[in-house]
Amino acid sequence: MKFFLDTADLDEIKEAASWGALAGVTTNPTLYSRIGGKLDDFHNHIARICEIVDGPVSAESVAMTRDEIIRDGRELAKIAPNVVVKIPTMVEGLAACRALSDEGIRVNMTLCFTVPQAILAARAGARYISPFVGRFDDISEDGLSQLGDVVTAIGNYDYTENTVGGEQVEIIAASIRSANHVTQSALMGADIATVPFGVLKKMVQHPLTDRGLESFLKDWEKVANA
Ligand code: E4P
Repeated sequence: MKFFLDTADLDEIKEAASWGALAGVTTNPTLYSRIGGKLDDFHNHIARICEIVDGPVSAESVAMTRDEIIRDGRELAKIAPNVVVKIPTMVEGLAACRALSDEGIRVNMTLCFTVPQAILAARAGARYISPFVGRFDDISEDGLSQLGDVVTAIGNYDYTENTVGGEQVEIIAASIRSANHVTQSALMGADIATVPFGVLKKMVQHPLTDRGLESFLKDWEKVANA
């Protein structure tokens, strides 16, 4: 499994990149607004993220018609070669995904919740599909089992004839709220988990690691003082 960071915060991205396990970044309008992002600085900000991360960096279009999304997508793709255009799973989004993929621009279909949505996205040429886990849990439904269904359904077929460069479509477990979401996503075979920085930090931690470290340090002090 690969890890993307779900943030627009440059400090978080730099810190996570220094840990050596960061494969990409996903942003969205909410995450950009959370860091106080300005409209006219959006493209520059995506460029700054692309300078830190070599892997795919998803930048979302907020347009609502296919023509506007396609226009947006072309502009976003010019920022850097690793920009992936993030498009909501809706009719206009599917049409734009098809057009952009045909032009060789990689697309991440976001706000995906169901198997039929994911299959349509894969058929429309999506390079990445992002089923949201946590938002299902927020409405008391089982986000992980929905994710598992998407992973199985997409894995049952070959979509490479639809994608840019014949690359394999990858499932990004999104809307991740806990380390357990990551564990279960990996067991289900999701290709990628995009995680907030807080979850990434929790993924490293375990009380037994802390306790073990404490006793090793104490015993090493005995060695040093012997
Ligand atoms: C995915 O790419 C989205 O940015 C993200 O995972 C949304 O998660 P949320 O439900 O925590 O907002």
